[in-house]
Amino acid sequence: MANLRFPPGFTWGASTSAYQIEGAGPPGARGTSIWDTFATLPGRVRDGDTADLACDHYHRYLEDVQLLEALGTGAYRFSVSWSRLQHAGRGPLDQRGMDFYSRLVDSLLDRGIEPWVTLYHADLPQPLEDAGGWPSRDTASRFADFAAAVHHFLAGRVSRFITVNEPWCSAILGYASGDHAPGRTEPAAALRAAHHLLLGHGMALDALRSIATVQAGITLNVSPVTAATGNPDDIDTARRVDGLTNRLFLDPVLRGEYPDDVRTDLARISDFGFAADGDLALISAPMDFLGINYYAPQTVYGTPDAPPIDGPSRYPGLRRLGFHHTERRTSMGWSVEGAGLTRVLAGLTEDYPAIPLYITENGAAYEDEVSGGQVLDHDRIAYLDEHLRAAHAAITAGADLRGYFVWSLLDNFEWDKGYSKRFGLVHVDFASQERIPKLSAKWYRDVVRAHGLPD
Ligand code: NOJ
Repeated sequence: MANLRFPPGFTWGASTSAYQIEGAGPPGARGTSIWDTFATLPGRVRDGDTADLACDHYHRYLEDVQLLEALGTGAYRFSVSWSRLQHAGRGPLDQRGMDFYSRLVDSLLDRGIEPWVTLYHADLPQPLEDAGGWPSRDTASRFADFAAAVHHFLAGRVSRFITVNEPWCSAILGYASGDHAPGRTEPAAALRAAHHLLLGHGMALDALRSIATVQAGITLNVSPVTAATGNPDDIDTARRVDGLTNRLFLDPVLRGEYPDDVRTDLARISDFGFAADGDLALISAPMDFLGINYYAPQTVYGTPDAPPIDGPSRYPGLRRLGFHHTERRTSMGWSVEGAGLTRVLAGLTEDYPAIPLYITENGAAYEDEVSGGQVLDHDRIAYLDEHLRAAHAAITAGADLRGYFVWSLLDNFEWDKGYSKRFGLVHVDFASQERIPKLSAKWYRDVVRAHGLPD
């Protein structure tokens, strides 16, 4: 019997994304996406890994749905691959792609698992990148058309939609730092990309609502930022990082404006002339929920003589920036601090209008080992336990948190880190495609069953 119970109706789930698990890549089964192209560039993805096969989920989806069923979660968040449903990023939906997602959705519904569909999770069709990518305004319109087509196709079976996942990653890592596809290093283009990802969200939301009643929102990565010391330089760096990482996305969506201080910080790069009349009204149209992906807090410094711990950031407009980490880290090098999640949820509750919140991703990569057919991932269990307690504390303090999705159901293709980082509740042997539920899967099943944690 759980002592730390979550509110009635609280949603439990697990998350994945299409490109990271499906395999069945081009040519044939789908068109080329920016990640297919990026992964073939030398040195861009660790060990030269590609997602051509990934978890072969396209062929093994039923086994994966059964693994999900064993977890007992009432919800599953996955993304539809744009280049599988529209090989060139436009036009009628591809029948083979529709058949795959139909089978997946039906197998979930048969088991009483609610599908939460993310419409964009990092994998832009390459022909749209060739036409300018997210820095081009037309990409937002193409995305809205795609969203409407997917909704038509899934209407009656899916009513939960996440428009865009982590626009910060797609815009900043994709077009400014170049760590993610398409690997461009053009700060001004990155800001245009950020705006058009948000515009795509707004236009897609509008398109979804014009078809039928849906529950829709956007998913943002939010990370609390703290100055390493009381030095004014450090404090100002924390403000700038918070501005670029969090408020550049939260404010347009929830307040209908870009923050003045962020615009000033970025004035050397852009005058924000890309925001046309009416854009911010579309971007800030009411949503049904806000999805939050939370992994780690950031402690930053901007003092020139601060110890270089993780090297300077390549974010646009930010110089002399470093990151401190706490002692406890995951194998991504990210700090472990559950209290950061409580701070995020409390901060959102205070700073933005009342909106239901869902944690659409939270989880950790560790150096898992298979031994005797088992993966005893006590470190992942400790991470999840700490973060669920932190989420519960935020609810007790008044946050309107309605659900929690673990990232991820399966070990998968972790972008530029390839298969070297394992986030799954289920271990995947990428050579044999054998799945082994880790100890954390059994632990999570018990949490879901008890609707909470022991005190
Ligand atoms: C957030 C992204 O949405 C997901 O694709 C990624 O794998 C996880 N973070 C872990 O880095």
